Amino acid sequence: MAKSKGHTQSIRKMKAEDISQVSFIESDAFPQLFPPTSFRREFQRKISTILVAVSNSQMVERKEFSPYSKDIRNPLHYRSTNTGSQDGMDFLTGFIFLWDTTVEESHVMSIGTRRSHRRKGIGEFLLYSALLNSIKKGARSLTLEVRVSNVPAISLYKKYGMSTQGLRKSYYADNHEDAKIMTVYDIQSLDYRNSLNDKLVRLKKHLAN
Ligand SMILES: CC(C)(COP(=O)(O)OP(=O)(O)OC[C@H]1O[C@@H](n2cnc3c(N)ncnc32)[C@H](O)[C@@H]1OP(=O)(O)O)[C@@H](O)C(=O)NCCC(=O)NCCS
Repeated sequence: MAKSKGHTQSIRKMKAEDISQVSFIESDAFPQLFPPTSFRREFQRKISTILVAVSNSQMVERKEFSPYSKDIRNPLHYRSTNTGSQDGMDFLTGFIFLWDTTVEESHVMSIGTRRSHRRKGIGEFLLYSALLNSIKKGARSLTLEVRVSNVPAISLYKKYGMSTQGLRKSYYADNHEDAKIMTVYDIQSLDYRNSLNDKLVRLKKHLAN
């Protein structure tokens, strides 16, 4: 858990009570996704892992509030006072969803953080935690597809040693955009695990700011 100025960020497995909030964050992060992921179904599947980032503080800035939008598919929706969480619930800031496609390979199906909480290290913390989880399970590689135009995500993946292995032409139904297939191999190696430890030191400092 990273702590700072009274804020803490932690990563844990998704619980049943988180499902509506994770769906909310997904619809904010992927407004074009249809149909949305059934996290209720994925929650039951053995091959699925869903990790969530939990904050002890909503940290929603007043200036981001929009009183106008009630539409969940509208990118501004989350900026209203409705954050998808309710009193008594953990406040989630992001999620990462993976499949164990084979014993040796983990596949990131999606990762998303609340717009109000981006560039704070949360996406990185989620990816880091997913890698650690996959390493513990014995996976040797982590792979995913990403839109060729998705500069923030590609930069995050490169930071964790993922490189482009190929393209899936017209992979995305909404605009026929190509997907890059990005993979990091040999995640069990000592070198890679050491590199994760180094990153965690820097990441904790970033999360603490
Ligand atoms: C991609 C995403 C998960 C990143 O989450 P985040 O919490 O903002 O990311 P972090 O603050 O942890 O940033 C980690 C790294 O990601 C990269 N990154 C994140 N946002 C970036 C941006 N706007 N521009 C360039 N690089 C960016 C950087 O490499 C950054 O490392 P740095 O801080 O050392 O520069 C988030 O932008 C998101 O939810 N996007 C919408 C959903 C999506 O596209 N998911 C990926 C689908 S494949």
